[in-house]
Amino acid sequence: MIRMANLIAIFALASSAAHAQQDSVAIGKKLTTNNCAVCHTFGKGEPNGQGPNLFGIVGKPMASEPGFKYSAGMKASASGKVWDDKLLDAWLTDTQAVAPGNAMTYFEGDEARRQKIIAYLRTLH
Ligand code: HEC
Repeated sequence: MIRMANLIAIFALASSAAHAQQDSVAIGKKLTTNNCAVCHTFGKGEPNGQGPNLFGIVGKPMASEPGFKYSAGMKASASGKVWDDKLLDAWLTDTQAVAPGNAMTYFEGDEARRQKIIAYLRTLH
C-alpha cells in the first residue's frame, strides 16, 4: 500500500524535475542571448543577421533558411541532414567537424552549457 507520505515525496520529486527543466530553459535562453544573438535572431520572421534566423531550428533541414546566403562548405554538407539535439550538440562542439569550411566562428566547449542552449532552442516553435 502506498502511504500518503510516499505520494507526497513522489509529487515533490516530479515537480522539482519540472522546475529543473524550466531552469535549464531559462539559463539556456540567457546563454543564447549572450553568446549567439550577436549573429543570430530567434523570433519568428525576424531578419537574418551574420548568421541565419534560428526560429524552429530543431527539426529543420540544415542550411534551409530562406534568404540567407550560406557558405559553400555549409551547403556541401547539408544534404539530407536535419537539426536534432545530437547534431546541434556536435555543431556547437565543433562546427568544422559537421560542415567543413562553414563560416560560423563560434563553439561551446562546456557540455552542460550546450545542453541548456539546446533545451532553449527546442522551445522555439
Ligand atoms: C560570430 C557569429 C556567430 C555566432 C556567435 C554564432 N553563430 Fe551560428 N552561425 C553563424 C553563421 C555565419 C552561420 C552560417 C554558416 C555558413 O553558412 O557557413 C551559422 C549557422 C548556424 C546554424 C545552422 C543554421 C541552419 O540554417 O542550418 C546553427 C544551428 C547555429 N548557427 C547555431 C548557433 C548557436 C546556438 C550559437 C550560440 C551558442 C551560434 N550559432 C553562435 C554565425 C554565428
